[in-house]
Amino acid sequence: MSAITQPATPLALVLAAGEGTRMQSATPKVLHKVAGLSLIGHAMMTAQGAGIHRIGVIIGPGRADVGAEATRVLPSAQLFTQNERRGTAHAVLQAEEMMKEGASALVILFGDTPLVQPESLKSLLAALDEPGVGVAVMGFEAQNPKGYGRLLMEGAALLAIREEKDASAEERAITLCNGGVMALKGDIALPLLKAITNENAQGEFYLTDCVGLARREGHAARVVLVEEAEAQGVNDRTQLAACESVMQQRLRLSHMRAGVTLQAPETVFFAHDTKIARDVTVEPHCVFGPGVRIDEGAVIHAFSHLEGAEVGPGASIGPFARLRPGAKLGEKARIGNFVEVKNAEFGPGAKANHLSYIGDATVGAGANIGAGTITCNYDGFRKFKTEIGAGAFIGSNSALVAPVSVGAGAYIGSGSVITADVAQNALAIARGQQVVKADWAIGFRARPENAKKGGG
Ligand code: UD1
Ligand code: CA
Repeated sequence: MSAITQPATPLALVLAAGEGTRMQSATPKVLHKVAGLSLIGHAMMTAQGAGIHRIGVIIGPGRADVGAEATRVLPSAQLFTQNERRGTAHAVLQAEEMMKEGASALVILFGDTPLVQPESLKSLLAALDEPGVGVAVMGFEAQNPKGYGRLLMEGAALLAIREEKDASAEERAITLCNGGVMALKGDIALPLLKAITNENAQGEFYLTDCVGLARREGHAARVVLVEEAEAQGVNDRTQLAACESVMQQRLRLSHMRAGVTLQAPETVFFAHDTKIARDVTVEPHCVFGPGVRIDEGAVIHAFSHLEGAEVGPGASIGPFARLRPGAKLGEKARIGNFVEVKNAEFGPGAKANHLSYIGDATVGAGANIGAGTITCNYDGFRKFKTEIGAGAFIGSNSALVAPVSVGAGAYIGSGSVITADVAQNALAIARGQQVVKADWAIGFRARPENAKKGGG
């Protein structure tokens, strides 16, 4: 064996070459989402959150989509393909090249187990620091242990992990189970993995055999206990929903602890990356997609949907507002009921209080967008921009046909269709002129052909 350098940093491998047939989906299992992030993304973020920055991902053959998601989440992630599904140890060995670069520890996570906390990985790594310990396994007490590997203990020492299909009746009665996350001391990982055979009920190379093998080589194995909810994996859609529910509960608690008021927390859904400053109030039934940031003191009124949006301090959103990607609202801006904002910036104090679509636009400070204003940003092929200056007033039911600009302080008469730029402080009216005919209705009703139906 060539000399192995031993960087002091740990290496994490995420296994995601499984098939996930029970999802009944055209989408690979690990690309299904919890709190707006793919399952594989969660596993990678867990590793990163534990301070592990060298991450490899094992994907199945022909799964460029899984590889693309892994590198989207973490551009430095290295991808390895497991061409044949021959077990979890075989999957890990696909990243042999990366392991040969050396590591202080090797941490293995499953791509379909999104609720593992970074702290648990840190505990696993800490367990490896104890003298003589070579392996640490994340374990949990299962309400129903069916399908899990059982942890065979002797006091605090883990003797072996027995897969259900290989377990005796007494072993099956054990409820302490393998949560799937394992950490191995860096210098022993590769030889241990290579020593694993496939002499078992499933004819697979089990990663879990590391424990027994390590002990035979004189290395102790430890268990780090976690709540069952944390070890929960996703095999089908009901488990996907169960994980979503646990994750949402965690996110709600963490936002409330950070000073966010949630009036009905159980009705609010966050994304994994939602950022909310303190003293923000979120009313019931709001949904946050990925990429939202809310600054201090803002209020998100009921039934609003936000995604990829930035909301400035003290701003007011909704009820029934929709903020789409690229919406950026300045301090104390107001977006009211049935207003949709996409890729548009609102300056401080600018407002669109009712029934509008503002897309691909800039709205200057203090501008007022009247009810029913539409930025006509799309001609069926391309998108165009609308610029509205500071303090401008857009009368209700106006259409601003982009590309077009309305200068600072300008007025747009209600019901206008604006197709040409409006200078600052000007008034533009672009609608049919009103015609008034005095007493016309009296003569109209008096016509013989209208006599029978007459207004009485
Ligand atoms: C595994 C553990 C079991 C543990 C359980 C926790 C083994 C042998 N068993 O069982 O002790 O209680 O997880 O959920 O490790 N994978 C590959 N390539 C393969 C096989 C699997 O990439 O050839 C990936 C899968 O995509 C999945 C993970 O490894 O992400 C676990 O595989 P799975 O078949 O689900 O293992 P379990 O039988 O659940
Ligand atoms: Ca599994």
